Amino acid sequence: MKTFAAIFGTHPTASAEAPGRVNLLGEHTDYNDGYVLPTAIPQSTHVLLRPNEGNIFRVYAANLNQFIEFNMAAMPEEHFGHYIYGCLRQIEELRIDIPKLDIYISSNVPIGLGLSSSAALEVAMLRALRVLLSLSLDDVQIAQLAQRAEIDYAGVNCGLMDQMASSLASVGHMLFLDMRTLERQKLPLPAGAEILVLDSGIIRMLAGSKYNERRAECEEAARLLGVPALRDVLDPSLTDPLPEPLCRRARHVINENNRVLRARENISAEKFGQLMNDSHESLRDDYEVSIPELDELVSILRSQDGVYGARLTGAGFGGACVALCEQGAAQHIGLETLRLYNQAGHSGRMLVPRPPT
Ligand code: GLA
Repeated sequence: MKTFAAIFGTHPTASAEAPGRVNLLGEHTDYNDGYVLPTAIPQSTHVLLRPNEGNIFRVYAANLNQFIEFNMAAMPEEHFGHYIYGCLRQIEELRIDIPKLDIYISSNVPIGLGLSSSAALEVAMLRALRVLLSLSLDDVQIAQLAQRAEIDYAGVNCGLMDQMASSLASVGHMLFLDMRTLERQKLPLPAGAEILVLDSGIIRMLAGSKYNERRAECEEAARLLGVPALRDVLDPSLTDPLPEPLCRRARHVINENNRVLRARENISAEKFGQLMNDSHESLRDDYEVSIPELDELVSILRSQDGVYGARLTGAGFGGACVALCEQGAAQHIGLETLRLYNQAGHSGRMLVPRPPT
């Protein structure tokens, strides 16, 4: 991989890093003002910056070996450029002058698997700008600016979970977040357990369009139930009178919120795992964001000794699965699961813990 110096002929003056995340429970609840429980993954994105004294922004994405140039009059065409441009626009909207920059991005967060590669890029970029320009932005404000960059410039009407997780979560702890009040709590993983994350080998399809559709369905369900957001309904049976599919969409959100609140209560790995299994079934049947490959991977995971529970993670329609495993067993369980899954012609791979090299 080429270095900053090899591309720009000089050295960076600011740098920052931000991790990807895996969500353990609380899927499609954040934009319903609900609760989530993500953790950071070891993979992260680095951004290096230096003012270039020219009249153009220059960006090099090392993993893609792609170089782009733009000015603020027009968003660059390349997809990764949308995130960079979006972050710069957020800072400009705070009436802060930004010099033209040379920007170098490198990342080992897998793209398109539901592990928040875009949030990691946005948060790393905003953190690097915070360092370079000595901005007094706290980590919550960074997350909020990152979310606006994504909604306004990458076109996904996302909630705030991914950016909050990238900005505030750490590896080895769960971050409980109340997405209405932004109350947060760092919690240990269930005792005696560790996390396994497997890529199904299926890049997320339709994630953007179906995501926006689900979000609109939830807003309509809340309107019909006469509440500001589905978070305000605690009893899933109240959704029964709603028309299809709104009743199932709302039921998922209400049950999922209740699962996160139970998972927060320092429960055993067995009980936590059961909540993950229930979450997968609800995402599959009520929210309809699973696909056959994710169901297959989850079912193989659940048949392995030492797995407390497993489910798809992230928006769905492809991407990764997360499992809670007996401490020390995740690596072995991951390899065995992938052997069986890939025998059926798939190209799954292990993401967390890092596979042996
Ligand atoms: C995506 C969005 C998040 C969240 C999840 C689903 O990752 O960016 O805001 O809605 O999907 O839980």
